[in-house]
Amino acid sequence: MKLSTSLILSGLSLVSASPLKRVVTNTTSTITPPVGKWFDRFVVIVLENTNKDVTFGNPYFLNLTNMGMTLGNYHGTAHPSQPNYITMVSNTLSAGVYDDADHNSTEMSIIDLFEPAGITWKAYMEGYTPLADGGCNPITEDKSTLYVRKHNPFMSFDNIRNNTARCQNIVNAEENFAKDVALGAKAPMYMFYSPNLDNDAHNTDIPFAVNNTQYLIDTMLLNEEFMRNTLILLTFDENNIYINDNFGLPNLIYTVALGNDTIKCYDCVDQQYYDHFSQVVTLERNWNLSTIPQPDGSGEGMDMWWRPFGQLRAADDNICAYAPCSEYYDGKSPAPSDGNWEDQDY
Ligand SMILES: *[C@@H]1O[C@H](CO)[C@@H](O)[C@H](O)[C@H]1NC(C)=O
Ligand SMILES: *[C@@H]1O[C@H](CO)[C@@H](O)[C@H](O)[C@H]1NC(C)=O
Ligand SMILES: *[C@@H]1O[C@H](CO)[C@@H](O)[C@H](O)[C@H]1NC(C)=O
Ligand SMILES: *[C@@H]1O[C@H](CO)[C@@H](O)[C@H](O)[C@H]1NC(C)=O
Ligand SMILES: *[C@@H]1O[C@H](CO)[C@@H](O)[C@H](O)[C@H]1NC(C)=O
Ligand SMILES: *[C@@H]1O[C@H](CO)[C@@H](O)[C@H](O)[C@H]1NC(C)=O
Ligand SMILES: *[C@@H]1O[C@H](CO)[C@@H](O)[C@H](O)[C@H]1NC(C)=O
Repeated sequence: MKLSTSLILSGLSLVSASPLKRVVTNTTSTITPPVGKWFDRFVVIVLENTNKDVTFGNPYFLNLTNMGMTLGNYHGTAHPSQPNYITMVSNTLSAGVYDDADHNSTEMSIIDLFEPAGITWKAYMEGYTPLADGGCNPITEDKSTLYVRKHNPFMSFDNIRNNTARCQNIVNAEENFAKDVALGAKAPMYMFYSPNLDNDAHNTDIPFAVNNTQYLIDTMLLNEEFMRNTLILLTFDENNIYINDNFGLPNLIYTVALGNDTIKCYDCVDQQYYDHFSQVVTLERNWNLSTIPQPDGSGEGMDMWWRPFGQLRAADDNICAYAPCSEYYDGKSPAPSDGNWEDQDY
C-alpha cells in the first residue's frame, strides 16, 4: 500500500488495525489506485436460493453462459442467506453472523483493504432508503420495497454502519445503478448489487428474476466504456436445499463470469472448486492487497486458504481471447477444466 503520511494527515480519519498499517475511513482522497492484474472493475450481482440445475434450465440464464465463463463448480458457503453475503466481503464465514438476524460485527471486511488502496466501491440495494445524510439505515426490512438487511452485508460491520462517509457508498439501486454505469470508466471499481426479494427470486422464481437481471446485465453490456476491463460475476447466495449447516454438504449454485476483456474465453466453463471466499481472494490478488487481518490483528483469516478465479485474463495474455478455448461449453454438460489455475501466480 503506497500511502504517504502527508495524505494520511490531510483530514482522513484512521483506526488502528494491525497488520494493516492504516485503515482510511474516508474515501475522499487522491490515492492512486493499483492497476488490476486481471480487471479494473468487479461487479457482483447476488440472486437467491436456487439450485444450479434449475437456473441452467432457464433459457435466459443458459444464454448468459454462452456469453461468458461458467464457474461450474461454484458453491455457496452456508445456510441460511446472510452468512453467504458476509463471506463475499469478509474473510470469515461468520464474523459473528451465522444466521439471518441483525448482527453488529467488529470484524474487518474487504472495504478495509479497498479504501487505503484507493479502490472505489459502492453497494446497490434495491428498495433501500438511506438516512437523510446518506447515513446507514439499519432497518431489518422494508416490507413495502422488499429490501432486507440480511442481503446487505456491509450493514453488519460496525466500522461501516457507524461511519457516514462509508455509508454514503451504500445506495438505493433503482436511483443509482444505471446512473453510475453511465459514468463509464469513472464508475466505482467494486460494485455489489442486491436485488429486492422479488427480483432476486427469493419470493418468486427464476423466470420472474429474468426481467430485472436482464435489465441489469444489458445496462452494463451495452456500455462499452463501462465494460472495459470489467468482470461481472452473476451468482446466487445458496442453493435451495435448506440444511442448517456451514460446510460439508454440496451447495452448488449457478455462477457465470462475464466480460471479454477479463476472462480467458467465452462460452466456456471452469470446473475448479470455488465458493464465495474465492471472490475476496480474487479481489485481493487482482489489486495486490494484503489479506484481511483478524480484528485483533492476530493474523490471517480464511482468505489465505482459497483460490482466486483461475481463468481470468491478464492484459498481456492473449491466449483464448475472443475465441473459444478448448474448454468449450455446449450448454448441456460442463466440460472438465484443465485445472491450470496455478499459472495465474496468485
Ligand atoms: C472526507 O475528508 C475530506 C477531507 O478531509 C472532507 O473534506 C470530507 O468532508 C470528508 N467526507 C466525509 C463524508 O466525511
Ligand atoms: C437466447 O439467445 C438467442 C441468440 O442470441 C436469442 O435468439 C434468444 O432470444 C435468447 N433467449 C432468451 C430467453 O434470452
Ligand atoms: C464475448 O464475445 C463473444 C464473441 O464476440 C460474444 O458472443 C459475447 O456476447 C461476448 N460476451 C460479453 C459478455 O460481452
Ligand atoms: C446493532 O446496531 C443497530 C443499529 O446501529 C442497533 O439498533 C442494534 O440495537 C444493535 N444490535 C446489537 C445486538 O447491538
Ligand atoms: C458501532 O455501533 C454499535 C452498535 O450500534 C455500537 O455498539 C458500537 O459501539 C459502535 N462502534 C463504534 C466504534 O462507534
Ligand atoms: C422489468 O424490469 C425493469 C427494470 O427493473 C422494470 O422497470 C420493468 O417494470 C420490469 N417489467 C416487468 C414486466 O416486470
Ligand atoms: C504487491 O505488494 C507487495 C507488498 O505490498 C509489493 O512488495 C509488491 O511489489 C507488489 N507487487 C506489485 C506487482 O505491485
